[in-house]
Amino acid sequence: MQDPRTKGIASTIRVVPNFPKPGIMFQDITTLLLNPPVFKDTIDLFIERYTGKGISVVAGVEARGFIFGPPIALAIGAKFIPLRKPNKLPGEVISEEYVLEYGADCLEMHVGAAQPGDHALVVDDLVATGGTLCAAIALLGSREAQGEAAVHSSGVSLLAIYCLRPKM
Ligand code: PRP
Repeated sequence: MQDPRTKGIASTIRVVPNFPKPGIMFQDITTLLLNPPVFKDTIDLFIERYTGKGISVVAGVEARGFIFGPPIALAIGAKFIPLRKPNKLPGEVISEEYVLEYGADCLEMHVGAAQPGDHALVVDDLVATGGTLCAAIALLGSREAQGEAAVHSSGVSLLAIYCLRPKM
């Protein structure tokens, strides 16, 4: 059964048709951020779900994973790793290219940010084609990924995937 808080979460996400280009129904979470109780519900759902699950890394996908990821990481006692767009990270990086609903892009992660044995949670605002998520999982070096939408309503998912990272 869906958590009753998801209704409030879904209702505060604004849908903007034809942004950033014709045919795209943009799911705008900035309106959710304007509602502190709902923003708190959103973060709390993840904290409740992932506290005590051995998560050692929260990886946030640029840009909106940087909003939701850090408070979750702090609350569950995990380190936070930003997965960034190209040429933003100053250290040595590994890169993963992917295809988007409206173009192609690439995610990068600092080498050594995640360590063998880390148990990672990937956080972003939504999944469309899944390309971004696949790139994030590839960066974390996982062979076995388990996915679940922690919040799912009206076609909008706040994403939480945890995966083992057995190699590197
Ligand atoms: C959006 C969204 C996800 C991704 C999902 O980001 O925040 O990261 O698209 O799409 P996918 O499942 O088809 O890969 P966007 O590419 O717009 O980048 P931004 O957050 O930097 O604006």
